[in-house]
Amino acid sequence: MIDIELYQKNLAFWEDAWARVKKANTNVTDVLDYIPEIPEVFKQHDCKRILDIACGSGWLSFFLNEQGFELVGVDISASAIRLANDVVAERKLNTVQFIQADMFAMDFPENSFDGILINACFEHLDYDRGAEFLQMIKKYLKPDGIMFGVFDKVASGKRGTYEVLEDGSHQYNDEYRDGMLLRYYNDEELESLLRETNWQVISNRKNKHESRIVVAKNIK
Ligand SMILES: C[S@@+](CC[C@H](N)C(=O)[O-])C[C@H]1O[C@@H](n2cnc3c(N)ncnc32)[C@H](O)[C@@H]1O
Repeated sequence: MIDIELYQKNLAFWEDAWARVKKANTNVTDVLDYIPEIPEVFKQHDCKRILDIACGSGWLSFFLNEQGFELVGVDISASAIRLANDVVAERKLNTVQFIQADMFAMDFPENSFDGILINACFEHLDYDRGAEFLQMIKKYLKPDGIMFGVFDKVASGKRGTYEVLEDGSHQYNDEYRDGMLLRYYNDEELESLLRETNWQVISNRKNKHESRIVVAKNIK
């Protein structure tokens, strides 16, 4: 596991980045082909209450909430959560809630959710924390609950300057991404981590950006 100081540098990067944003962008991008699949999958599996982990300023939480799901979004950045809460207040929403917390410090009763959404966040964890994460989130999900996870192809090494850590993570040190940690989990690593943590993979497809879009069931 990489040192806590290096882990915390990544968290500090995110707070700095979000602190510069004035307003949440709630537009749903059509660049990401899998977005329409998210509500479809949760509906197919009769999921009603969804946890959006590392939700940023909440665009996917709002998108899913508009489709009738109850949402809880969690993010480490107090600024991101503030932006999300501004939208909640402005739209007078009462079935979406945001909590500022480290994903490893979430504190929900067991089996609180029918579904978990992980979009563009797993790659910010080093290998050991990634394995711990896939195990840890299961306790918040009901038995047979559904994870919709997007695991991006990142850390190509083409942009910025970075240090390569012992587990292969890249920790950036250029002025734009100072502290940000990115690790590319290759297909074999991802598949074996999902197997070891007892997720039953229902589907796993790659899109044109080579993100792995995984739907998996929580086997307890
Ligand atoms: C690339 S953004 C993705 C945000 C959002 N999921 C989306 O799809 O736009 C990564 C997010 O992960 C959050 N994050 C990073 N490490 C975290 C941690 N340990 N606990 C909670 N949130 C974290 C960051 O603050 C940031 O909002």
